[in-house]
Amino acid sequence: MATHGYDTGVAENNVNMQTAIARSGPDSVAIADALCGSGACIIDGLFADLADDLAAESRLLQQRGAMQAARVGRGSSQQENLQLRGDSALWLDDPACIAGRQLLHRLERLAEGLRESLRLPIRSVEAHYAHYPAGASYARHRDRFRDSGSRLLSWVGYLNPDWRVDDGGQLRIHFEDGASGDVLPTLGTSVCFLSELEHEVLPARLDRYSVAAWFRRDE
Ligand code: OGA
Ligand code: MN
Repeated sequence: MATHGYDTGVAENNVNMQTAIARSGPDSVAIADALCGSGACIIDGLFADLADDLAAESRLLQQRGAMQAARVGRGSSQQENLQLRGDSALWLDDPACIAGRQLLHRLERLAEGLRESLRLPIRSVEAHYAHYPAGASYARHRDRFRDSGSRLLSWVGYLNPDWRVDDGGQLRIHFEDGASGDVLPTLGTSVCFLSELEHEVLPARLDRYSVAAWFRRDE
């Protein structure tokens, strides 16, 4: 049956349907609850006290040339890689990361909480700063590959003050039902999702800074 002239608010099919991502406070039980719905949640207040230091440190390290172009797969040319993913990264266990290692410890404590509340066999956390120059993106992908189950949960914390919707750079998460949800990479926002969910980074008008982390099964 066709609908005419008005918006019912319900999509006819799931293609391009946008959905609101669940929100949670920083407590691991609340995060686990929120994740149990669609597999993703925006976390409020997890690193508010560290956000300014992380934002400053990521910019300083980027300016010093400490970040390395990210790699995808094997054997593909640098040019193909840039089309797939345009970010550079530095792992937070590097001695140059002072604020970064404080965040890493906090994520390790969160991992212990989530291991309990989600009953997931999380054994370790890895995290890196990422810098996307203006115009760069990361094509639709999963962080967990079918032949390697080591990444269970993905987490991204954003380090961009005064970011606006028309600056772009949203993280777009694609849910199993065909809907998708966007996260704006504003300073202090973070998001956690099942690593098997497909997602992408849309191109931004400005340089975009973040920390990406993974809660892993193995050591
Ligand atoms: C990644 C990733 C998302 C983001 O690094 O794998 O998907 O919003 N990052 O930066
Ligand atoms: Mn990813």
